[in-house]
Amino acid sequence: MSEVTMDKLVNLCKNRGFIYPGSEIYGGLANTWDYGPIGVEFKNNVKRAWWKRFVQESDNSFGVDAAILMNPRVWEASGHVSSFSDPKMDCKECKTRHRADNLIEDYVKKHKLDVDVDAMSQDEMYKFICDNQIKCPVCGKCNFTEIRNFNLMFKTNRGVVEDAENIVYLRPETAQGEFVNFLNVQRTARAKVPFGIAQIGKAFRNEITPGNFTFRTIEFEQMEHQWFCKDGTDMAYYEEYKNKAMQFYNDLGFSKDVLRFKDHEKLAHYAKCACDVEYLFPFGWGEINGVHNRTNYDLSRHQEYSGKSMMYLDPVTNEKYIPYVIEYSVGADRLALALLANAYHEETLDNGETRVVLKFHPFIAPYKVAVLPLQKQLNEKAKQLYKMLNKHFMCSYDEAGSIGKRYRRQDEIGTPFCVTVDFESLDDNTVTIRDRDTMEQIRLNIDELVDYISKRVQFN
Ligand code: GAP
Repeated sequence: MSEVTMDKLVNLCKNRGFIYPGSEIYGGLANTWDYGPIGVEFKNNVKRAWWKRFVQESDNSFGVDAAILMNPRVWEASGHVSSFSDPKMDCKECKTRHRADNLIEDYVKKHKLDVDVDAMSQDEMYKFICDNQIKCPVCGKCNFTEIRNFNLMFKTNRGVVEDAENIVYLRPETAQGEFVNFLNVQRTARAKVPFGIAQIGKAFRNEITPGNFTFRTIEFEQMEHQWFCKDGTDMAYYEEYKNKAMQFYNDLGFSKDVLRFKDHEKLAHYAKCACDVEYLFPFGWGEINGVHNRTNYDLSRHQEYSGKSMMYLDPVTNEKYIPYVIEYSVGADRLALALLANAYHEETLDNGETRVVLKFHPFIAPYKVAVLPLQKQLNEKAKQLYKMLNKHFMCSYDEAGSIGKRYRRQDEIGTPFCVTVDFESLDDNTVTIRDRDTMEQIRLNIDELVDYISKRVQFN
């Protein structure tokens, strides 16, 4: 079995309709990607699996879908206007902009040095770059400006006049939509602390570093869950959410050796403690989610900036307090990329051919089943079957090329079941159903298919 590389994934995604470069016919726009017909099904299934686990199956969690554009005071209160920045420096020679921490990380990796960039101050980073004569990756010179903080939020203007009064931000995290609705949800859902608010939606960051495909983009989707709890119970819930995150990934098919926790050394402005779950991507370890103890920072700040009380009144003890928050935040695109890398396999068949197969958990596979007629004369029967099955599942229908080629096409997009219609089907209403991973085939009556497939594509 040969190794998965980013090039292989990017090519497969582009050729099979998972992911295309954004605005490709105009030469693209750096760090943007478009999901194609197969990709949109796949990513929707990733989001469905997360929502099922963290909202549907949670006793006390509720969903919201908040506006992307929020009152700009939200971002002052949250600290993003003052603190959501990266340490950037410009190359004076070729005028390109770089993240100082990334320049050091690359240098440290190349020279196998034991240096913790996260623990460095800006002065220490600048000194390290000068002392080691770290070069601009574009022009190869070492002549940088000093490090400046570069805010990652995209700004736009609302209305007809472009002035500071009209600035609105594209949200850099979905979390604030959950915090500003804390009281609304608590009241309307009659929720008692501890309870959760979840949201899936777009977030935007003005990232300048090249992204490793969809790993780091300027527009991405987050799946965020805020668990509101009482001060003192927060650390136990922090551990609980770390475990829940890990369990979710194991259930999706990641083995333990490709995932790890990484504690944050440098904490975000809102966090008391935080860690990431990292996946071993083809380019190395990379974060797929964060678990953060945000204390009562966000609700307290919104109370201060909005003038509205964010106090929760405990109906049993009559205590009034601002709840603490444990946040579990995962990028849908990053998780999807990790799932793609994890699913990618190349296998040598008995006849010496190589098959590329995406061994997704069936729940997240773009199509659940493909219907393949063996001969032209069987197309009508196969189409009837396709029409019956697509009322229940996303299905593919393929009558072009040899059966072997058609199996390969479905393997490459991870379809867990292929149903073949043959002449026997006309006589006794049976078909063969082929399992993607074992390639074994069994014969079933068409009436049994929906039940058989439904049971095998569940995610629990
Ligand atoms: N609300 C907390 C928060 O936003 P974060 O660690 O900055 O925390 C959470 O982001 C998750 O969002 C990350 O673990 C990652 O999966 C995803 N993410 C962040 N920046 C991203 C980017 N530029 N491109 C793709 N995904 C990103």
